Amino acid sequence: MELYRACYRSKIKWDNMRLALPDEIDKTLLRIRRINRRAGVTGALLLVDQHIIQVLEGYTGPVLDTVYCVMNDPRLHDIEGIIHEPADYRLFPNSLMFFRDLTDGIAASRHAELRPLLDHPGEVTREEAYLALSHFAKELREGRMTNDMLMI
Ligand SMILES: Cc1cc2nc3c(=O)[nH]c(=O)nc-3n(C[C@H](O)[C@H](O)[C@H](O)COP(=O)(O)O)c2cc1C
Repeated sequence: MELYRACYRSKIKWDNMRLALPDEIDKTLLRIRRINRRAGVTGALLLVDQHIIQVLEGYTGPVLDTVYCVMNDPRLHDIEGIIHEPADYRLFPNSLMFFRDLTDGIAASRHAELRPLLDHPGEVTREEAYLALSHFAKELREGRMTNDMLMI
């Protein structure tokens, strides 16, 4: 079966948050990881000031169903598609939803490939998104290799 990758940027609709942002994130991650496990969907969610950027990977049907769920979520608006295409492999094969908060700008100040994600009026291009996502995918792979070597 064919793998599919979807990545989008969306504005956060603050009025529709039920909890303070950190609690809302914790609760949402718990919920979406549970749903994604069942659907075989993996990916990453990046919080960038007024936006989130999310990548979803898995078989085409479940990924498109998830995109549909996200598009109907009242906490998000102005969704812009960045990547929508078949994929040869998953960038985040072991992450039901990897999460990073980039709002403090520290990671972006250290890694130039993350800077295009920071809030700016223009679109995030497919190439910019791939460079930034590959940064985190690499970080995860290296962590896994270290764990394997240490047998943890
Ligand atoms: C930032 C964000 C990321 C989301 N990511 C996912 C996801 O990865 N998978 C998914 O099934 N739903 C995702 N959603 C959609 C919501 O979790 C969805 O609206 C929720 O499952 C609705 O069900 P509930 O009202 O029963 O909680 C996301 C929503 C938001 C706001």
